[in-house]
Amino acid sequence: MTAPVSAGKRDRVIVFDTTMRDGEQSPGASMSHDEKLELAKILEEMKVDVIEAGFPIASNGDFEAVREISKIVKNSTIAGLCRAHQVDIDRCAEAIKPAARGRIHIVIATSDLHMKHKLQMEPEAVLEVITRSVTHARNLCDDIEWSAEDATRSERGFLRRAIETAIRAGATTINLPDTVGYTYPTEYADLFRYMIENVEGADKVIFSTHCHNDLGLAVANSLAGVEGGARQIECAINGLGERAGNAALEEVVMALKVRADRLPYDTGIDATHITRASRYVSAITGFPVQFNKAIVGKNAFAHESGIHQDGMLKNRETYEIMTPESVGQAPSSLVMGKHSGSHAFRAKLKDLGYELGQNALKEAFGRFKDLADKKKHVYDDDIIALVDDALARGSERIRVVRLRVVAGTDGQSAQLTLDVDGEEKLAEASGDGPVDAVFNAIHAIVPHEAALRLFQVHAVTEGTDAQAQVSVRLEEDGRIATGQAADTDTLTASAKAYVNALNNLFSRKEKTKPEPAIASGF
Ligand code: KIV
Ligand code: ZN
Repeated sequence: MTAPVSAGKRDRVIVFDTTMRDGEQSPGASMSHDEKLELAKILEEMKVDVIEAGFPIASNGDFEAVREISKIVKNSTIAGLCRAHQVDIDRCAEAIKPAARGRIHIVIATSDLHMKHKLQMEPEAVLEVITRSVTHARNLCDDIEWSAEDATRSERGFLRRAIETAIRAGATTINLPDTVGYTYPTEYADLFRYMIENVEGADKVIFSTHCHNDLGLAVANSLAGVEGGARQIECAINGLGERAGNAALEEVVMALKVRADRLPYDTGIDATHITRASRYVSAITGFPVQFNKAIVGKNAFAHESGIHQDGMLKNRETYEIMTPESVGQAPSSLVMGKHSGSHAFRAKLKDLGYELGQNALKEAFGRFKDLADKKKHVYDDDIIALVDDALARGSERIRVVRLRVVAGTDGQSAQLTLDVDGEEKLAEASGDGPVDAVFNAIHAIVPHEAALRLFQVHAVTEGTDAQAQVSVRLEEDGRIATGQAADTDTLTASAKAYVNALNNLFSRKEKTKPEPAIASGF
């Protein structure tokens, strides 16, 4: 294993992405194994320093994801989360073993509230566990991050002792999470300043922020943490994460880039991959990006009022503090029609940031041709939806072959043919609306117990011939799977999205919950 990531120069901020760990803890945001691998590749291309790929002890699925990502990613450090338990740490060390750079991330709570009620441990016992767990981890890996859960509500004197204990035992990064999204920017900056000035050994480690967005302050708090001396920010694409989420990666990165006059710290991030990463995470989780979301929202660079448009035409800087191109958002332009060839299509995909293998390219080109037959104008956004759709699709045990729907004031019914394991099956069903009729027909062909948790439709572009992009989330026995599909016909897209979700559900391994946090194993 090579040397740990370190800030080296004090003006470098390490970007630690936790989309696949804290992000996946967001209810309903589970990702399949293949989706995680694809996301890891995107994050590596974006030059994210550390990718927290999962919580290896939590499930075999998490373990396998961390292990496979450790094999394929060469330039980013791969971290796995563990509680301060020997079994967690051993499992994590095993998962990150193939990594060129691996990190063990240990968390234990330090606030009175958490120690008393959750851990049911005396503070002195917590310090002993910190020594034992970090020492054990350090014997397995050179790069150890230690997190003080609920740091912002921890008593300062005790937190200081806990940090010193972790540093003495060999921690290389000290993370002070605002676990419940409670802190305020000046207070958080002050916490880092105090610890960096007073903790023995503080100069040997990197301090890190980890902010939750319960009060909408996660990004502001992360930046304040950097002002206070932190040199790592933990964040997630689209701000995904527990409850209200984590600090959004795209926002902290662009704030550091655009306001380098106030925050003179570099990240190594190639921001032109941001839009693609955002769209991909939205596609695989089914979590839509709000239209007015900073940096990656559909309206983030739209200028509607006449005064603004006039200003923009005279000089873009009148109303634009960064260009859409700088975050990889090319203005949605008209692309080729049905006479375009595969070379032009491949060049367009390259422009949009996609490099597909021969088979995937052939398949995407076929789908593009089908779309161009149906739709007069094919835009960049149509192509992105089409490719993301294919990338987000898992195994294809079940496939939509044909769909006919009758809908109107006199009732709704659907006649559907599915290919199930190579055999065509037909069903007819009625329903309370055409979508209900389609889903009932799927049920008739593939009986299952899964409950529908999300059904969402949005138009990819403008106009009545726009493609509908549909997301469906299903839940069965605690397992959650999302499916997505785009089509000019909303009902066909709905049927395909539901079937994709079913395919993902059937191929997903059961996720088991970690055991309670009381026993330490040390
Ligand atoms: O919010 C939190 O405290 C965490 C830790 C595991 C870092 O996610
Ligand atoms: Zn968190």
